[in-house]
Amino acid sequence: MNSTSSISQLSTESLDTALTLLRAGQLVGIPTETVYGLAADASQPAAVAKIFATKGRPADHPVIVHIAGAAQLEHWAQNIPDEAYLLAEHFWPGPLTLILERQPHVSDAVTGGQNTVGLRAPAHPLTHQLLQQFGGGLAAPSANQFGHVSPTTAAHVRSEFSPEVLQLVLDGGPCEVGVESTIVSLVGEKPKLLRPGGVSREAIEAVLGDDLEHHTNQHSAKQRVSGLLDSHYAPRTPLITGNWPAVLEQAQQRQAQGQRVIIITAEARGDETKLPLHLMPANSDKYAQALYATLRSLDLADYDALLLELPPSTSEWLAVQDRLQRAAHHKLY
Ligand code: TXA
Ligand code: MG
Repeated sequence: MNSTSSISQLSTESLDTALTLLRAGQLVGIPTETVYGLAADASQPAAVAKIFATKGRPADHPVIVHIAGAAQLEHWAQNIPDEAYLLAEHFWPGPLTLILERQPHVSDAVTGGQNTVGLRAPAHPLTHQLLQQFGGGLAAPSANQFGHVSPTTAAHVRSEFSPEVLQLVLDGGPCEVGVESTIVSLVGEKPKLLRPGGVSREAIEAVLGDDLEHHTNQHSAKQRVSGLLDSHYAPRTPLITGNWPAVLEQAQQRQAQGQRVIIITAEARGDETKLPLHLMPANSDKYAQALYATLRSLDLADYDALLLELPPSTSEWLAVQDRLQRAAHHKLY
C-alpha cells in the first residue's frame, strides 16, 4: 500500500471526481485492503438502490457502511457496547466489520430492513482519504456481479461493469488482504463471528478476552433464499474442491474423457501429476491475497474444470476455507 503522503496528483484528481460523483448519487469503484467495493452515498437511498440494480443483488441483503473511523460510530449506530470501541481501537482502520443496532435514520436500503447496521473503517489510504473528505458513510458491497468472484484489482472491477454503468474506478493497486472483512455481531448477548475474514478469530478473541461464537447460518440462509447456495464467490468454470488424492483421481478421469483440466494446489507436487498445475502460496495470508485473482485468471483460460486441493483446516486458513466452501460447484468429500 502507498502511504497517504505518496498519493499522487493523478489520485487527487480522481478523488475530486469521486467526491463529485458520490455527492450526485452516482456509484464509484473504490479500493479497500480486502477487496474492491462498489460505493454509493449511504445517506441517499436512491444511490444505494443503484448498487443493488447494478450488481443484480437481492434487495434484502444488507450492505456495509464504510466510515473514516470510530468517531463516526454514533452517527450510524446506537446503544453501542464497549466492545465496539475496543475492537475499533485495535483493528480500525482495517478488515473488521461490526454489526450494531442502527440509528433510526439509517435507510432500509442499507440495512435490508433489519434493525442493525454493518460498519467498517477500511485501511486503504486512498479510500481512507476519500472517506475523510466525504465526511459521510459509503455503502459498498464487493464490486462484482452477484455471486461472482470478488475483485482485487481495478481491472477486475472494470471487467464486471461497463463504463456506462460505472464511470469511475479509483485504482489503488492490488488488494493486500484479498478476502473480505471479518464480520462480528455485537447486538446479541455475546459477540458472534458471522464471517471469517481479514482479521483472525484469535486476534479478536484476544482483545475481547472471550470466545467468539461462530455463526455461519445467517449467510447460508440468505443464499438459500436467493437460490444461489452454490454460486457465491464462484468462477464460471466449474470449481471442484477436495483432498489429495481424490482431486488427482478426478482430474485424471476428466482428462481421460478429453476434458482440459488444471490442478490448483499449495503443495509442491512436482511431476507426480503429469497434469497442468497452478501452484498457490503455502502461506495462508499470501494464499488469501492471490485467491480471487487466481480464480479469475484461470476462469479466462478456457478449462473445462478447475480442481483445487483444499489447504489445511487449521485456524489461520479459516477465511480461505470459508470462501472455497462457497465458491465450489462440487465437493469431493
Ligand atoms: O471486506 C469487505 O467487507 C468488503 C469491502 C468492500 O469492504 N465488502 C463486502 O461486502 O464484502 P459484501 O456486501 O460483499 O458482503 C457484506 C456482508 C454480507 O454478507 C451481508 O449480509 C453482511 O455483510 N452484512 C452487512 N450488513 C449487515 C447487517 N446489518 N447484519 C448482518 N450482516 C450484515
Ligand atoms: Mg460480496
